[in-house]
This record gives sequence, structure tokens and C-alpha cells, in this order.
Amino acid sequence: MVRLGQSDLRVSRVGTGTWQWGGAFYWGYGRSYTDEDIDGAYRASIQNGINWLDTAEIYGRGRSEKIISQLTNSENSNLDKAVAKPIIATKFFPYPWRLGRGALRRALEASLRRLNTESVDLYQIHFPFKPRSFEVWVEEMAELASEGLIRAVGVSNFSAEQTKVAHEILHRHRVNLASNQVGYSLLNRRIEANGVMQTCNELGVSVISYGPLAEGLLTGKYRIENPPPFLRKVRWAGKKLKLLPPLISLMNDIASTHGASHSQVALNWLIQKGTLPIPGAKSATQATDNSAAMTWRLKTDEIEALDEETTRFLTR
Ligand SMILES: NC(=O)c1ccc[n+]([C@@H]2O[C@H](COP(=O)([O-])OP(=O)(O)OC[C@H]3O[C@@H](n4cnc5c(N)ncnc54)[C@H](OP(=O)(O)O)[C@@H]3O)[C@@H](O)[C@H]2O)c1
Repeated sequence: MVRLGQSDLRVSRVGTGTWQWGGAFYWGYGRSYTDEDIDGAYRASIQNGINWLDTAEIYGRGRSEKIISQLTNSENSNLDKAVAKPIIATKFFPYPWRLGRGALRRALEASLRRLNTESVDLYQIHFPFKPRSFEVWVEEMAELASEGLIRAVGVSNFSAEQTKVAHEILHRHRVNLASNQVGYSLLNRRIEANGVMQTCNELGVSVISYGPLAEGLLTGKYRIENPPPFLRKVRWAGKKLKLLPPLISLMNDIASTHGASHSQVALNWLIQKGTLPIPGAKSATQATDNSAAMTWRLKTDEIEALDEETTRFLTR
């Protein structure tokens, strides 16, 4: 367990992402996997030491939050009650029509109703989107935190500069910025170069890594001749899939040394970069596999080899 930023939340090194829990359009919820699979993913996460779930009001238009509420409040759950209440991180989406003051409060109240809880553990601003400047939302966050409706405040997709500004505003209100959730993986290392990683480290803000498996590409199961399903195929088609084999082959060698999987190698690399990956899981098998990344460590030369191979990949 590690402390999330300077907050009082202690989270496992891997969390479970839940965009998939209710995300029908992009992920195929209700078609290629069911509520039963999600129940399995939830139980496997908790039973294998994952103590937090990442959701958002936009995932399945609130469905993800409702599913989490059902799973965590289930009277029938035979999970140990002491471990069955995970930390919940959710997000506010700054839709363009959310202009008036109080919009963030109303969004939080709706999330609280869906989650069937009185406060949220980590509340994050999903994107620093205009038309309203993100500073306004951060001010509102501070207010809600001081009222006890939010235990910790986070942001997501914030640049280095925006992170600094959010940190400063919250600091004036004696609230800490706990985390910045950003895209980070072996196939997306932008935060190492654009100042986000460095700024977060300097400010004591945890980096939460989304897309840690590059939406499945880093699990080794997708190839040019076996691409991911339609929308992901469009997104990742061509170049990335074509260039992937040498990296997958290196991951394969490393994985077999540790008796682990490709996914675990990808997650382990993120853990050892000091971040908190939140792989999305659709089944008990995936959640069990992902949580096992917390049980072993990559060696220094393995990290270096992965760094080198991905640098090659990303500069081609
Ligand atoms: N803040 C933001 O803007 C933002 C953006 C995106 C995501 N997120 C958060 O980050 C979480 C994770 O990111 P992501 O869902 O985009 O991508 P991801 O975690 O990189 O990939 C998840 C997908 O990989 C496959 N998978 C997962 N574990 C596996 C395993 N052990 N073996 C084989 N396949 C496995 C599954 O898809 P298949 O089985 O279909 O291949 C799963 O849906 C989301 O759930 C969400 O909570 C946040």
C-alpha cells in the first residue's frame, strides 16, 4: 500500500479501472462480456489485494458507478467485509453546457446517489476542458473537500503547468492535490518528456497511469493478423501493430523469467516508474493476472531493456 499524494488514502500499487463496467459502445459491455464477468473481475481484484476502483460519471453514462454501488453494497457478497469496501475514485466531466456555478456540486451529488454513498474518496476533474477555465472547478473542488464531501482531490489529463496551478489554488484553501491521472504506458511515454512526471514528483502528487496496457496491445494477444475489435483496431491500426512484435518478444522473455504474463511486465514497469496503474479488467482472469504484478519486481537491466526497446518503438 502507498499513500495517494499527501492525502490520507492508502492505495494498492495497482487499482482496477472500470470504464469497461458499463462501457458498451467502445468496449462491448453486454455483448462480449456480462455483469457476471464484471462481478468476477471485482471479486478477483479485492481478493488479490487491489483496494481501489477508478470510475467516472461518463463511463456508460453513470452505469459504471451504479455497477460499483451494487457490487460494493451487495448484501449477498460473501467477501470479507473488512476488505470488501474499496476506495472509490470517480470523475467530474466538464461538459460545455456546465457553465453556472454549482455545476460541479450537482455532478458530485449525482455521483454520490449512483454510488449510494455520502462522500467520495477521490474526486477528479476529468479534463481541463474549456469553455469554463479549470481554475473555477478547482476552486469548487476545494469547497466540497472542506465540507467533507470529498476525501481527496485529483485532476486528470492536466499538463505540468495546469497541475502547478491546481496545486497552488488548492494549497491556498489548505487542501492537497492528491493525484494527476494521465495516459502512461510502454507505448505512451509522453509524461516523461512534457514535464508532467517531474512536476508531480516535485509537488508530491501521485501519478495514476491510465491505458497502462495500451487498451490490450501490451498483453501480447493482439497482432497485425489478430487485431483488437473494431474501434480499437481503427485507433491502433497499421503502424503500431506492425512495430509491436520486437517489444512483445522482449516482454515475453522477461515474463517467462518471472513466471509472469505480458500484462504484468507492462504494469510492473509502471509501478517501478513510481506510478499507480489502473488496468481495466473485464473478467476474473484479467483482474487476477493484473493484480499479480504487485507480487514481483522487474530487475534493473530488464527495466533498461524495456526503456530502450520502447524508445526505439516510439521514435520510428
Ligand atoms: N482519465 C482518463 O481520461 C482516462 C482515459 C482512459 C481510461 N481511464 C481509466 O483507466 C482505466 C484503464 O485504461 P483503459 O481501460 O483505457 O486501457 P487498459 O487498461 O490499457 O486496457 C484494458 C483492456 O485490456 C484488456 N486486458 C486487461 N487486462 C488483461 C489481461 N490481464 N490479459 C489480457 N487482456 C487484458 C481488456 O480488453 P480486451 O479483453 O477486450 O482486450 C481490457 O478492457 C480505465 O478503465 C479507466 O478507469 C481514464
